Amino acid sequence: MRLLVVGREGQVARSLREAAAGENDIVLQSVGRPDADLLRPGALAAAIAQFRPDIVVNTAAYTAVDKAEDETDLAFAINRDGAGEVAAAAASQHAPVIHFSTDYVFDGRKPTPYDEQDSPNPQGVYGRSKLEGELAVMSANTRNIVLRTSWVYAPFGSNFVRTIRRKLVEGQCLRIVNDQTGCPTYAPDIAGATIALARRLSQAGWRSDYAGVTNIAGPDALTWYDFARLIAKRSTSGGAGSSEIVPVSSAEYSARAIRPANSRLSTTRLQSVFDIRLPALAASLDDCLDRISQE
Ligand SMILES: NC(=O)c1ccc[n+]([C@@H]2O[C@H](COP(=O)([O-])OP(=O)(O)OC[C@H]3O[C@@H](n4cnc5c(N)ncnc54)[C@H](OP(=O)(O)O)[C@@H]3O)[C@@H](O)[C@H]2O)c1
Repeated sequence: MRLLVVGREGQVARSLREAAAGENDIVLQSVGRPDADLLRPGALAAAIAQFRPDIVVNTAAYTAVDKAEDETDLAFAINRDGAGEVAAAAASQHAPVIHFSTDYVFDGRKPTPYDEQDSPNPQGVYGRSKLEGELAVMSANTRNIVLRTSWVYAPFGSNFVRTIRRKLVEGQCLRIVNDQTGCPTYAPDIAGATIALARRLSQAGWRSDYAGVTNIAGPDALTWYDFARLIAKRSTSGGAGSSEIVPVSSAEYSARAIRPANSRLSTTRLQSVFDIRLPALAASLDDCLDRISQE
């Protein structure tokens, strides 16, 4: 199976490379900046045409949620136009595209987990650009799988777990938002699931019910504050210091972009259509913290 991954050093891109290493049935090529930049139309199409993939996986995105409020054109150029071009280039090679999207397409007002039938209502530029990216992908390639995920963390890159772990080690006082609830999702778990899904497409062929949006998220929901406390609790043996963790409201924290209060994603469709479920938070977080403590 020939997998072309768009994005090189992002959390999901790097996890996909790790997951594919040593798998004899997978030839994975990752492409990204500077040679394949989503801002340069044609660069990706050329890379895709040259590699002739069975499946294209697009992990690349403009992910700076707050900065996007001031860089609207850039966010849309990458997350909508770039995503659409990747999907079209895959279609021109008769390859399905697996594309990643976000819980930030929702306004967070629903009291229960969001499923794929719920109407999006993004509150910020990042969420709007990702939602339009979903639509661009779906209209450019009928064989599309749009995976909406949330609260992604990994042993590398820039993420909540690494930031909290570093601040704990430094003994800093932490003020953490306690009125946003979501499902932390471990990038290596996303990568494992994506490879399982790609194998299914490659071995059993495309099925029309695969197309469209599917949520992929960890099974456990909590607030950022409770997530920080869990990181602290499970880090103690890994050398983290003792810091005070103080709950604050989103209003007190005053980030530039509005985040959904409820980001929980239902994964019923992931289980019923693709037979995939992600591991529990405790197991994935322990793996992540172990890897960080070995740096
Ligand atoms: N992080 C989260 O919490 C989260 C939550 C929900 C959904 N998602 C979605 O999940 C997917 C993967 O996220 P992630 O956490 O792996 O993201 P990430 O760590 O921020 O990495 C973003 C990737 O996009 C690439 N990229 C950015 N601009 C590009 C451009 N102009 N041309 C080519 N590549 C470009 C980056 O390339 P470089 O390596 O060159 O920097 C990097 O590989 C994205 O679609 C994101 O929207 C993420």
